Amino acid sequence: MATIKAFIFDLDGVIVDTAKYHFKAWQRLAKELDIHFDEQDNEQLKGVSRKESLEKILGWGNKTISQEEKETLMHRKNEWYLEYVDQMPADEALPGAKEFLQAAKDLNLRIALGSASKNAVKILDKLQIKDQFEAIIDGNKTTKSKPSPQVFLLGSDALNLDPADCVVFEDSVAGVEAAIKGDFKAVGVGDAKTLEKAHLIIEGLGDTTPAQVINQLNF
Ligand code: BG6
Ligand code: MG
Repeated sequence: MATIKAFIFDLDGVIVDTAKYHFKAWQRLAKELDIHFDEQDNEQLKGVSRKESLEKILGWGNKTISQEEKETLMHRKNEWYLEYVDQMPADEALPGAKEFLQAAKDLNLRIALGSASKNAVKILDKLQIKDQFEAIIDGNKTTKSKPSPQVFLLGSDALNLDPADCVVFEDSVAGVEAAIKGDFKAVGVGDAKTLEKAHLIIEGLGDTTPAQVINQLNF
């Protein structure tokens, strides 16, 4: 039986409720482009890079535009996203997230971040939890989007651990798939139906403890 030595956390939608701001910003852009975009479509963008998200939206609207226009749209979306984030209160970590990180530390588990976001460090700083992470793998360090396991493999490499000894916490379908492909233990955070492929599903980090997660995974 593998011994669990580390937790690798996705950021948006797991530690902080920024998933809603990504959605709001994409929805604003889609509206401008006259492309239908709802919360169900948004599930397919969770965990997916900025560039691939834009490409998916353009594809749904059957729109072809130049690379330069794509850059402009991505920039605009990010400006809106950051405006929302700037208004976010400093304590907007999801309920129980900070306590969960601390409890994991108290169990001597090692902690890494595996996020597709290029804004990850900014958000961790804002929440004042950057120091909790021994390794931070974000969208500036990856070349492949989830469901590629690259982001998590870079995380386990940075900790010098086998994927099988690490638990990934993810709120996205793409992220759960990435974790499973990489041979990690996958904990889905959110809706049981959407994340059914995960080894374990929790409603949020505040609904469990690191010890319970480890017990439940070592079935
Ligand atoms: C992921 C989000 O964490 O980061 C996606 O789930 C987002 O919705 C992606 O597109 C990239 O984020 P950013 O901040 O680099 O645009
Ligand atoms: Mg996420």
